[in-house]
Amino acid sequence: MKRIPTNELIPGMVTAEDIYNYNNQMVFPRGFVLTDRAISRLAFYAIDSIRVDDKIVTVPKNPTLVVEDIPSHREQILSDPAFLHFKSEFDDNVDDFKDRMNHVIKKNTSLDVSKVLDNAFHLVDIGKQSYGIFDLLGNMREYDDETYAHSLNVALLCNVMAGWLRLKEEEIEMATLSGMFHDVGKIQIPDAILKKEGPLTEIEHRIIETHTMESYKILRDLPLHDHVKNAALMHHERNDGRGYPFNVPIQRTDPYARMVSVADVYDAMTSLRCYRPGMSPFKTVSIMEHEGISKYDPVFLNTFLERAATSYINNRVLLTNGEKGEVIYIPHDNPSRPTVKVGDKYVDLSKEKDIDIKSII
Ligand SMILES: [Fe+2]
Ligand SMILES: [Fe+2]
Repeated sequence: MKRIPTNELIPGMVTAEDIYNYNNQMVFPRGFVLTDRAISRLAFYAIDSIRVDDKIVTVPKNPTLVVEDIPSHREQILSDPAFLHFKSEFDDNVDDFKDRMNHVIKKNTSLDVSKVLDNAFHLVDIGKQSYGIFDLLGNMREYDDETYAHSLNVALLCNVMAGWLRLKEEEIEMATLSGMFHDVGKIQIPDAILKKEGPLTEIEHRIIETHTMESYKILRDLPLHDHVKNAALMHHERNDGRGYPFNVPIQRTDPYARMVSVADVYDAMTSLRCYRPGMSPFKTVSIMEHEGISKYDPVFLNTFLERAATSYINNRVLLTNGEKGEVIYIPHDNPSRPTVKVGDKYVDLSKEKDIDIKSII
């Protein structure tokens, strides 16, 4: 590993550290293969030098290369062994958690909480060593989601959120477990309702809402902290009078329930479901920003949305005007409206109100 001035970098060099700009936003993750465009971007951000690996890899050299010819950030991730490793560990982890909960619920066996926690932290570590949890989870949306994959997603999102909030180690553990166990009561809800396509009836809504109480009943006698049990019971409480099961203001709920509710809604909206496609993270951030304090705790919401959007820097996106480009800047005060580089021009979505990001491509 060596530090190289930006004006001496050459395509094919590989970043040996996460690269941040002056706003502390990630420009490139560790392990990113530099191209001419990437090096110009470092200069654009006035980054003087970066650490790179000793090895240099071959990148296609073609002066007429257009943006579609270069593997997108998403394509790079999908073909990266680090991602494939994460995906396989993630799937194992989901199966393991499902087995454990089935044993607890159907056979009344005890629960090894520390093993559940170790498994989740193992995935977080893999994420830290590659693209980060958001980018990795964001690229695993191709399969129909189910309760246990969603639970693990929310656990990982709560883990990173707790880290951003600089919580103590035991609080990060609590946040992770709160996410992991928040929806276990859904095992008691029939699939015909959980996976129903089309609108739910009033009665079906009521049945789904019982999952909070069902979760609490399952967790009540398990060796878990009250915060984790409360998060399962209270993560659907809101300030707008539409929360459940008690419909109380969120100030009266457990802080871990408030943390889970932010990660939960973000994951539910961005995930592919059997009855609808996943929503773009920028659209999700925009909706959650708009809902704001009528539904969520502003401390958790603001930290989460800004950092969530920032993690999508470098992604190639399709705009609603049909143009394609790369996200190169996310404003702190308006994270759902980034600047997108389309060819040689910069489209600042915070000013171009008529254009939205349709999808990540
Ligand atoms: Fe829930
Ligand atoms: Fe959930």
